[in-house]
Amino acid sequence: MTYLPSSHRYQTMEYRRCGNSGLKLPAFSLGLWHNFGNVNNFENSRNLIRTAFDNGITHFDLANNYGPPPGSAEENFGRILEKDFKSYRDEMIVSSKAGYGMWEGPYGDWGSKKYLVSSLDQSLKRMKLDYVDIFYHHRPDPETPLEETMVALDLIVRQGKALYVGISNYNAVDAEKAIAILKQLGTPCLIHQPKYSMFVRDPENGLLDVLEKEGVGCIPFSPLAQGLLSDKYLNGIPEDSRVAKSGIFLNENHITPEKIATISKLNDLAKQRGQKLAHMALAWLLRDARVTSVLIGSSKPEQIIDSIEALKNTQFTSAELEAINTILSESK
Ligand SMILES: NC(=O)c1ccc[n+]([C@@H]2O[C@H](COP(=O)([O-])OP(=O)(O)OC[C@H]3O[C@@H](n4cnc5c(N)ncnc54)[C@H](OP(=O)(O)O)[C@@H]3O)[C@@H](O)[C@H]2O)c1
Repeated sequence: MTYLPSSHRYQTMEYRRCGNSGLKLPAFSLGLWHNFGNVNNFENSRNLIRTAFDNGITHFDLANNYGPPPGSAEENFGRILEKDFKSYRDEMIVSSKAGYGMWEGPYGDWGSKKYLVSSLDQSLKRMKLDYVDIFYHHRPDPETPLEETMVALDLIVRQGKALYVGISNYNAVDAEKAIAILKQLGTPCLIHQPKYSMFVRDPENGLLDVLEKEGVGCIPFSPLAQGLLSDKYLNGIPEDSRVAKSGIFLNENHITPEKIATISKLNDLAKQRGQKLAHMALAWLLRDARVTSVLIGSSKPEQIIDSIEALKNTQFTSAELEAINTILSESK
């Protein structure tokens, strides 16, 4: 059946300006790290994109290595675009990245100009796109001079292969340096993609301040700590969960009795706020105006609709924030 997006798709989503740029991003963006590889059911992947778009999620986040196998998430996304979204490309923000190991030899990893330019060419072919909206350097490279990596991002924009550029997994000091180089080159850094959730608070140690000062957006990834920040693991490991299905990046060893005790306390607090824990965890990120968009993953279309519910209450009292901090600081 031909896909016709919902005519209400822009009615409930909130759009936030990305740093000092002209671009607005939805409060929720959808990541394709899991659930879009060749190992996954294509029709489910297609429904995930349709559901997201129908609910105002205009931003889809990929990387060269998403799958498995690596590259297959971009290929499948390209198939979905071709089947359902041909007329809607201008309503979508597509991002990709390079920085982790993608192909054999010295040119398929890290941060050289050779790697970044070749990798984006491959990504565009896999997605059958002329350009991506945002291209990221996926992780800092301790060996390649930062200038070379940033010059590669600048070149990619000048070649018309990306409209904006970003960095991911950079600490505050390196991010500040990268942002300064990009500014000098005339291709401002649009956005930073850090790992950030109630369980991973590193960006609070300087990074968020740098981004605010420099007018760069922030899109936290793994906001639910891959699903841990929900009620799903409170009574064991569900068969259809990431732990049971994938087990590579999140496995049984992460679900310790101590962790469950912490999640359970957070769950009680969320209930007092009239929210589910997943909603509270997402709202907790969105309460900060420096956060442009929260980058969620979803294995089922219903999860996308559920997560968006978090927008109904993103206000926290200082007592609630304090209670969350106490629970997290007591966590082992
Ligand atoms: N830049 C980087 O280095 C980097 C690294 C990692 C991720 N990312 C990006 O961030 C995106 C999101 O990462 P993530 O998938 O780890 O995010 P996440 O939102 O923390 O976890 C997603 C998982 O949580 C569960 N979930 C989702 N919605 C739920 C809800 N409403 N209630 C209960 N459980 C729910 C699902 O797990 P089940 O499968 O168990 O149903 C889902 O697969 C990725 O797709 C990628 O684009 C970037």
